[in-house]
Amino acid sequence: MNGLSERFDPGFVWGAATSAYQIEGATSEDGRGASIWDTFCAQPGRTFRADSGEVAVDHYHRWPEDVALVRDLGLGAYRFSVAWPRIQPDGRGPAEPRGLAFYDRLVDGLLEAGIEPWPTLYHWDLPQALEDAGGWPVRDTAERFADYAAIVADALGDRVANWTTLNEPWCASFLGYGAGIHAPGRTEPAAALAASHHLHLAHGLAVPRLRERVPGAKVGITLNLYAISPADDTGRHDDAVRRIDGLMNRWFLDPVLLGRYPQDVLDDVAGVGGTDVIRAGDLATIAAPLDFLGVNYYSRHVVAAGPWPGASEVDFVERDWPKTASGWDIDPVGLGEVLAQVHRDYPPLPIYITENGAAFDDVVGPDGTVEDHDRIAFVAGHLAALADAIDAGVDVRGYFAWSLLDNFEWAEGYAKRFGIVHVDFDTLVRTPKASARWFAELARASSTKERS
Ligand code: FCB
Repeated sequence: MNGLSERFDPGFVWGAATSAYQIEGATSEDGRGASIWDTFCAQPGRTFRADSGEVAVDHYHRWPEDVALVRDLGLGAYRFSVAWPRIQPDGRGPAEPRGLAFYDRLVDGLLEAGIEPWPTLYHWDLPQALEDAGGWPVRDTAERFADYAAIVADALGDRVANWTTLNEPWCASFLGYGAGIHAPGRTEPAAALAASHHLHLAHGLAVPRLRERVPGAKVGITLNLYAISPADDTGRHDDAVRRIDGLMNRWFLDPVLLGRYPQDVLDDVAGVGGTDVIRAGDLATIAAPLDFLGVNYYSRHVVAAGPWPGASEVDFVERDWPKTASGWDIDPVGLGEVLAQVHRDYPPLPIYITENGAAFDDVVGPDGTVEDHDRIAFVAGHLAALADAIDAGVDVRGYFAWSLLDNFEWAEGYAKRFGIVHVDFDTLVRTPKASARWFAELARASSTKERS
């Protein structure tokens, strides 16, 4: 452990994370409606090998085994997401009781096992019916989300304390509506910006609905933040850093935590369109006070000014750098930079690392075990950076490994394994990897040590 466990407070939350579409399967069971990911996966060429979440790792049926895995690892918290189309198959109207009953059982199972449930209300599986009505670029979707949040709060609020509204609105808006590499696969820059605003609004409308129904609820949002640095230190690329930090980090942090959009980004995107959906009063709604910020950290982007003097294009620079199987640079220092930025530029708020982890090309040994020492090194490196940030005064209270299980990695299908628990995608047998055992021991040692 190299003293790592000593560096975290005994009350530090150790957990593992998943999301509904990536693990549940059972996409047409118990009244679940279609989501944009069902539709997207059914379109040719959208996902690796046309993989989909139709079966995923069958968590919908195997959840007791998965809860037992978390318990056996001794983790105190489990982050999962609620599938909106299970609760409201068409994204509006009365709740589907069978959908609610699933999360009811899951929450009870977690609590019985001594595991704190950390639900996220939106991890990208928008009901297809709402996309058919325009999706996130349409304001009404935000209102529908607030109604859905209220239904889930009514059902689970007597047992769930920690609530996350959205996971990574950057991905949901910019990858889904701009780049088109995530569902719904649209490539409309103005729609992407409008979607981002309506995701923020959805969050802001949901916060008071959750608080009304769940006295004492701890409410937060999860953002994916990136370290951004210039290709060299000549200063030539500083504007590229400003632009990308603006679009990937500040466009999401500022409205939620400061109640305004960054003016420089508004200026950058002025010609794109889409920001005309921002109405007077929206930002006050969006900036509803929160109890925590969830940070997902995976990597750094190195950027350079584009080749044309005066033009706004930015180049993303490939570095000769150690990478995960996703091709993402392994850069734990970036985690510290991201946390320092949040600490420096925003009002104080407890932070939880709601995702961090890596895909590697795991090799299953003859006895079925996976000795994933590359993943252990990845997590250990990031935890050391995290401990440094905490020592430097950043208020980080927990860390959730992404992911508990190998699962459906969106456009990459089943090609990328992020789990600390291996899943055989044919038999669906779960086997903890060396990283799971290591992480469990770290959590145990950290939680049980004497306060010094
Ligand atoms: C994050 C997502 C999560 C998973 C990881 C690898 O962006 O929130 O669902 O796909 O990346």
